Amino acid sequence: MIKDKGAFTKRVHDALDFAGGQLRNLVTAHPDYFPMYTAGGRWKHGGEAWTNWCEGFLGGQLWLLYTHTSDDWWLERAIHYSRLIEHRKTDDTVHDLGFLFWSTWRRWLDHNPEDFIKAVLIEAGRTAGSRFRERGQYLPSFVSEESIFIDIMMNIGIIFYAAEQSGDKSLWDKAATHCLTTRRYLVRGDGSAAHEGIFDTETGTFVRHSTHQGWRDDSSWARGLTWAIYGFGSAYQFTGDSRFLQTAEACAAFYIENTAAHGVPPNDWSEPAPAQPFESSAAAIAASAFLQLSELSADRVRASMYQQYAFRILDTLLQPTFLASETPNWEGILLGGMYHQSRDLGVNESVMWGDYFFLEALMGALSLLNGRPAGAPARPGA
Ligand code: GLY
Repeated sequence: MIKDKGAFTKRVHDALDFAGGQLRNLVTAHPDYFPMYTAGGRWKHGGEAWTNWCEGFLGGQLWLLYTHTSDDWWLERAIHYSRLIEHRKTDDTVHDLGFLFWSTWRRWLDHNPEDFIKAVLIEAGRTAGSRFRERGQYLPSFVSEESIFIDIMMNIGIIFYAAEQSGDKSLWDKAATHCLTTRRYLVRGDGSAAHEGIFDTETGTFVRHSTHQGWRDDSSWARGLTWAIYGFGSAYQFTGDSRFLQTAEACAAFYIENTAAHGVPPNDWSEPAPAQPFESSAAAIAASAFLQLSELSADRVRASMYQQYAFRILDTLLQPTFLASETPNWEGILLGGMYHQSRDLGVNESVMWGDYFFLEALMGALSLLNGRPAGAPARPGA
């Protein structure tokens, strides 16, 4: 529970001001550059990317700052960075078009309900849905046709949106079916989630669990679990199917039960003696996901608990251990994030999606403190 709302509100405003300064420096120093994770606190470096799923998170932060400040400086750059990724709307080689376009073009549509913006979102959603495999009934990950990731749950909202806007029932069914497949094979009975599922591409049958960024195939990678909380919540927002809300809440319960009171998890709860104690980007995603869940849960007591839990996470992330405002020469916003531990990419660094979801959650918290709903609407302009 936040005891002093005035002081907390000031800290949120200060953090958003700090974020504005960091982002202004980034887009001024490195125009048209899409960073993914820092190296030693610096955004520009030659480190490996593994996959290109992050190009929406910089534009997304620019949209959030425009929403917060109404300053046209941010608007111009938010539009520019959104346009820079438009060509990705036909990229069917990755499973990540929701990450790219929901953070940018959907926010643009919220501000400006023009048909050309809607058309880009619909095309990106159709491209994402075109990856659906009848054998196995899922949207495969970028890794291979046999692989499904928990992360893909964050990319089904744009498919539901495209299906709804174009009246395409078959596309809608693909998105809903992928969610049910993920629920059946990746989410376990205790609410934990496997990172990856491997299927037999000939028969479509499920073979085994696996992981890339977690500790073990049978453990729960923290960021993957937060993708599940948020993604199943979004699936429920679109469909009203209570199975998706139940899954989001089961994953939320696992997160709370297994995370220390401050609300920031390690990279994987099962890893013995992890080299880094925290994965702050998972906490930032969780804060946003819990705010969303607090507006979805039918149980008022649980809804209030989710909201308080989100505030608790943010209260922790606003401390200097995580907020980089007192760390000299650090270019990111949130310290202590992790991209890919086993590949040694972005370990104990700032990561673009961590900063994005942190800002989203801060904005949601501010809305609540001002007596308005927290969540981003499932449908643009709603
Ligand atoms: N979607 C990739 C990640 O969470 O690292």
